[in-house]
Amino acid sequence: MEAKTQFFSTPIYYVNAKPHLGHAYTTIAADVATRFKQMDGYDTYFLTGTDEHGDKIVQAAEKQSQSPAQYVEKISRLFQDLWPRLNINNNQFIRTTQPGHIRVVELLLTRIHDRGDIYFSSYDGLYCFGCERFYQERELIDGKCPDHGVAPSPIKESNYFFKMSQYQDWLIDHIKTHPGFIHPRQYETEILSFLKEPLEDLCISRPKSRLTWGITLPFDPDYVTYVWFDALTNYISALGYPDGPLFEKFWPSARHFVAKDIIKPHGIYWPIMLKAAGIDIYNGLNVHGFWNVSGSKMSKSIGNVTDPVQVTDHYGVDAFRYFLMREMVFGLDANFTEDVLVSRINSDLANDLGNLFSRVLSMNLKYFKGIVPDTDPVEFPDLCLETEAKETIGHFRDAMAGYEFHKGLEAVWQFISCMNKYIDTQEPWRLAKDPEAQPKLSAVIRNLLEGLRTVACLIYPVMPETSKKMLEGLTISVPEAGFYGLEQMARWMQMPAGTCLEKPDSLFPRVDVGKKPGQ
Ligand code: ME8
Ligand code: MG
Repeated sequence: MEAKTQFFSTPIYYVNAKPHLGHAYTTIAADVATRFKQMDGYDTYFLTGTDEHGDKIVQAAEKQSQSPAQYVEKISRLFQDLWPRLNINNNQFIRTTQPGHIRVVELLLTRIHDRGDIYFSSYDGLYCFGCERFYQERELIDGKCPDHGVAPSPIKESNYFFKMSQYQDWLIDHIKTHPGFIHPRQYETEILSFLKEPLEDLCISRPKSRLTWGITLPFDPDYVTYVWFDALTNYISALGYPDGPLFEKFWPSARHFVAKDIIKPHGIYWPIMLKAAGIDIYNGLNVHGFWNVSGSKMSKSIGNVTDPVQVTDHYGVDAFRYFLMREMVFGLDANFTEDVLVSRINSDLANDLGNLFSRVLSMNLKYFKGIVPDTDPVEFPDLCLETEAKETIGHFRDAMAGYEFHKGLEAVWQFISCMNKYIDTQEPWRLAKDPEAQPKLSAVIRNLLEGLRTVACLIYPVMPETSKKMLEGLTISVPEAGFYGLEQMARWMQMPAGTCLEKPDSLFPRVDVGKKPGQ
């Protein structure tokens, strides 16, 4: 049987400033989803990269008195260097200045032009340089771009236009007949309500008199390609479209992760571009909300950004990944404060998970000299945690498959709390005093160890380092792939009875609230 496949992508980020927590979130979410799909038996491909053409890149380079080429090299490198530090396992990092990408953009433009879907016309419009797109009056709030809070500039020039309008009915129908195409539901509603108004044709060129940093139109050397047309194409150029083996294998399963700021290019322009070029439409779009700081979107133009490098240096990568996935409900906005981060670390990680781990291993050390006790689950059915573990795996799988990362983690933490209660109810310290209760004590400890094994396996997508550390502490060998599959981990009584476990290092030390960085 052929393996199921899954292709995930993040946006390719603009290289006009260094990466912040918002970029880290999307990339970590896609990484977590990829690792989860692997545990669920999928063959995966995970793409991220940088968007390097356009006005705003030129403006940012000018500010630093650098050429665009020098500047994009420097900033793209910051993104490429950040991902390994956050344990991102992307298969490829694409840059829109790469020749292979440029060729595919040219190919797509030529195809759509040959079909007669591109025409030349003069245009008068309001342009937001932050978004790199024209706005219609009705989209503005108090005359300003809703994302950047600045009034767009009036621009008049002759340009090439893509006949998007003629695909409007097709797109509405495609969305309605493909439930889950835009996920979660509220963003599908948003796109459909936008599509109730007539769709304007898309301006897909910029005259070289105004901008040269871009891909020259294959049918007119005086123009460069509009940066969004260029950028969206990365999702297929990276896979080697038109005839690369990766494209054939992974394109049918493509899901793009984006935040709600770029839902329109992804939910409207991109499917129509694909349709016009005769390419299969991507499988789905996963849209998340914004990380806000005191009520405003965290953004480079506002300047209220959190540096992911600083946070991970101080609190650790796994704590950062856990916080982002646990705190945000995928699709809704979330507020970032360091206090909430610290309280999650102290309560969920140090207290609930960390304490349970050291508590169980310490008891095993005290009562059994560290040797994993053997027990017959049939003998003590009431003490067996297998059903709870299996239910947890089931809830985790459902939540993660639906991109509800916070719910997946909630399920694991419910199981952790169930184990903590189990200890309080069974009172191993009391059993230890009664020689006749030895078999029962063995069963209690063994079930707790098996429970910890399950937790260690389940947290892998979100906290790969802690997963590994826990499995090592339980002397369970980690498969070469780096994780246990969901079916594999569900088998109870997998611990090697008779092996000796040592006292582990603490998984998550408590954060002293007085010692946050910058205080
Ligand atoms: O839009 N909260 O690049 P970009 C959550 N180059 N996510 C955030 C965020 C926040 N406060 N701020 C940024 C572009 N993001 C284009 C994309 S794709 C073909 C071209 C994340 O650098 C989120 O994923 O402005 C958002 O969609 C993306 O960064 C925008 O990155
Ligand atoms: Mg942006």
